[in-house]
Amino acid sequence: MAIDFPRYLLAKQTVDDRALNKDVLRALIVHLAGHPRDADLVVTEIGGGIGTMLVRLLRWDILPPRVRYILLDVMPENIAYARDWLPCWAAAHGWQVAFDPQGVLSLENGVRTLECHLRCADLFDYVEQNPPQAHLLIAHAVLDLLPIPETLPKIARLLRPDGLAWLTLNFDGATIFQPELTLSDLQISSLPLSPFASPDSHIISLYHQTMRTRSGGDSEAGRHLLNYFVQSGIQILAAGASDWIVYPRGGSYPADEAYFLRCILHFFEESLGQHPALSPGLLHAWLEKRRAQVEAGQLVYIAHQMDFLVAFHSAPEHAT
Ligand SMILES: C[S@@+](CC[C@H](N)C(=O)[O-])C[C@H]1O[C@@H](n2cnc3c(N)ncnc32)[C@H](O)[C@@H]1O
Repeated sequence: MAIDFPRYLLAKQTVDDRALNKDVLRALIVHLAGHPRDADLVVTEIGGGIGTMLVRLLRWDILPPRVRYILLDVMPENIAYARDWLPCWAAAHGWQVAFDPQGVLSLENGVRTLECHLRCADLFDYVEQNPPQAHLLIAHAVLDLLPIPETLPKIARLLRPDGLAWLTLNFDGATIFQPELTLSDLQISSLPLSPFASPDSHIISLYHQTMRTRSGGDSEAGRHLLNYFVQSGIQILAAGASDWIVYPRGGSYPADEAYFLRCILHFFEESLGQHPALSPGLLHAWLEKRRAQVEAGQLVYIAHQMDFLVAFHSAPEHAT
């Protein structure tokens, strides 16, 4: 199955809405309430995809009245999708929408104005261009794709000295599928598994390994971020779990969450399809069962993640 990445990001919205840690969100809201109402709040979102976080912040009415939002993503198809989708969403929700000749999207609704700069670039290249420093840096479902801690001092450069970073949905080493599958469920009699490993734990642990080896990411990003903040003396204003918990209601999934689950299974297939330590027969049988469970509205999926609101420049090396 090929996946439609923008549709995956759209389908992820309801899962993320539930998952985002509301204590961390409340701390962000309290902080933003202190921003002067007559001054622009500059927000930089890295790895912003198609703009679902910006839409969430508008839906949840979290932003102050004047905002300059820089939405950065390395995938041209995401930025192209955002360029169509954001104005359509805004127009359907009562905003007046315009693009200026430079392609900056302006939203206005009588009480609020928002300027959105859509930038297609690798964030590490972007940091080197000395871009405007933001009051708020957002990285949502992104940092676990990147090396930690090396990435952190680089993205800290995107923030003003008094700025905060809201770093959300950082995967933290636990993936759970229910119901568990045994070898006999998969009609496989013997496989070179450790005597203690179930098919699920074998496949999941290899998948976590590929997050590190294939993409240079971190399958325990949540705890490593937390440890880095503590060891570096970075002030943590709030921290908490933001697990994805996906389950059927009355035999089917809400919104487009069945598609979200199909994408998760696709990521397993894509990452593990050629893995030398995994029998193709086992992976095939496991995926077939899990996909049938999605279609039957039977699969439960949980991924443990963590959210943070931090003041990067509170670290001693930044102190004046
Ligand atoms: C899992 S997606 C999340 C997208 C969006 N934050 C959301 O949740 O809808 C991760 C995003 O990070 C982007 N990304 C990964 N590495 C990047 C980099 N080095 N610079 C900029 N964007 C990057 C990808 O293109 C992708 O859109």
